[in-house]
Amino acid sequence: MAKRSVWSDNRFWQRSAAWVTGFASILLIWLTFDTIPQITMGTDADLKGGVTKRVPGPTVINYKITYEMDAKRMHEIPVIGDKELFFGRDDWSEEEAGALLHLGKLGSQAKNCMDCHTLLGNGAYYAPDLTKAWLDPAWGPEGSMQAMTGKSTKEEAMAEFLQHPSTYPTHARMMPDLGITAEEAKGLVAFLKHMSSIDTNGFPRNFGRMQGAVNGK
Ligand code: HEC
Repeated sequence: MAKRSVWSDNRFWQRSAAWVTGFASILLIWLTFDTIPQITMGTDADLKGGVTKRVPGPTVINYKITYEMDAKRMHEIPVIGDKELFFGRDDWSEEEAGALLHLGKLGSQAKNCMDCHTLLGNGAYYAPDLTKAWLDPAWGPEGSMQAMTGKSTKEEAMAEFLQHPSTYPTHARMMPDLGITAEEAKGLVAFLKHMSSIDTNGFPRNFGRMQGAVNGK
């Protein structure tokens, strides 16, 4: 009987397929368990104890968030700083902050922000990416939005804009009025502030450099 090459042996291919499938399954299970703690939302105790979580707890709205270049990772990362007032308070409890974020999340779904914007990689690019919108210096003390909306804080300026966007056209494209109430706007701004504090591995790429948001401005 002629000796057959291993490459044309059925059993060789069957065994290879079984090994590759088995190895990939184990790898996926391991990666899943490795990822869960990394993407689990932190708590108020973490924030108070200075523990850095990829997804900080809702009470991060009580803190100043800046965007800093990380030389080792070669992209910007959100840095949680000192306490800062958010709609006049820096003592939002875990429940209150959580309820505000929930309201904002529901609002973003009901008004379908993703129809035009991108949030954490999902959505459209008709309008600016909202993942780090809170860090856009346009809303800060040196930006134009506070003067334009007649408000003296970032959160109030953003909430005013969200309620009446077509009154404040700032880009070539205009955001339509979506019938957002004052309460919804507050929730949406909290939602955007929290989202900006999430460590997204530098996504969207070059946001900081494009917007001039790097290093605490
Ligand atoms: C029909 C499209 C559309 C929808 C839906 C929409 N937007 Fe916008 N949005 C725009 C456009 C266009 C701009 C840029 C124009 C401007 O700034 O005046 C904008 C700008 C913004 C800005 C300023 C961005 C920055 O970086 O300064 C924020 C914040 C914002 N939108 C939030 C929201 C939220 C929150 C929702 C959902 C509740 C939403 N938008 C729904 C079109 C939309």
